[in-house]
Amino acid sequence: MATKDDGSVVVELATSHPGFADAVYRQRRNAIAALALGHTPGDPIPTAEYTDEEHQVWALVTKELAVKHRKYAVREFLDATGRLGLPQDRIPQLQEVGDLLEPLTGFRYLPAAGLVPLREFYGVLADGLFHSTQYIRHHSVPLYTPEPDVVHEVIGHANTLASPRFAALYRAAGRAARQVETDAALEFVSKVFWFTLEFGVMREDGEPRAYGAGILSSYGEIEEFRGMDIRPLDLAAMGTTHYDITKYQEVLFEAASFDHLEDTVGAFWDTCDDDTVARLLAASSV
Ligand SMILES: [Fe+2]
Repeated sequence: MATKDDGSVVVELATSHPGFADAVYRQRRNAIAALALGHTPGDPIPTAEYTDEEHQVWALVTKELAVKHRKYAVREFLDATGRLGLPQDRIPQLQEVGDLLEPLTGFRYLPAAGLVPLREFYGVLADGLFHSTQYIRHHSVPLYTPEPDVVHEVIGHANTLASPRFAALYRAAGRAARQVETDAALEFVSKVFWFTLEFGVMREDGEPRAYGAGILSSYGEIEEFRGMDIRPLDLAAMGTTHYDITKYQEVLFEAASFDHLEDTVGAFWDTCDDDTVARLLAASSV
């Protein structure tokens, strides 16, 4: 993403991006990124303009994912989804998402033009704020996106954030990001987040179910995760395992129960500092 001399914003898309050759889509992406850059926290979030085709993408993905969720998502997520009540036939504005969430768990959304620096992204989770992209994937491939779009941010994360238990874990991750000072410790904290709140799996009724927003918002990955290399929760392993965001996650970590997730990962985030992380890093390298 780049801001030009005249103040206009240009979002870079790879040549392989489904919207690369669509000038109208690219113009909308630029306009939506500019909205986020111009937003001041505390002000209402500017309204993003979506086309009818884009609303139809949302409706289709919502319908298809709901079927998968009933099959593969943890109960806590399904219950939270019911309480949040996102619109099913149109893309909600981020302002509206915050209005639905706040009475449930206190969380609100902030618009993000692009990648937010780790310390900022995680840090404000402690304040009940979630940075979110506002654009939606290209309508030519409704069930695929090469980057996190509003489907991921809202269907994946907002539904999870509607659960008080999950919201408490997000806040704990935010506090952890503020407790650590070194970049190495921050990266460790963010990797534990990646392997839990983005791609976490939990044992329920004797089988692995998904609670990570990355799995729950991916039409393809949610069908595949049970065939991956699923390992028990392990802080040192999660904090050091390499991942590639452009591919399905091949290694996943499974909590034995919600209590297990809270007692292990929640407790780690609640208490960690640079020394805790240094000890885990040292233990994982022997
Ligand atoms: Fe995410």
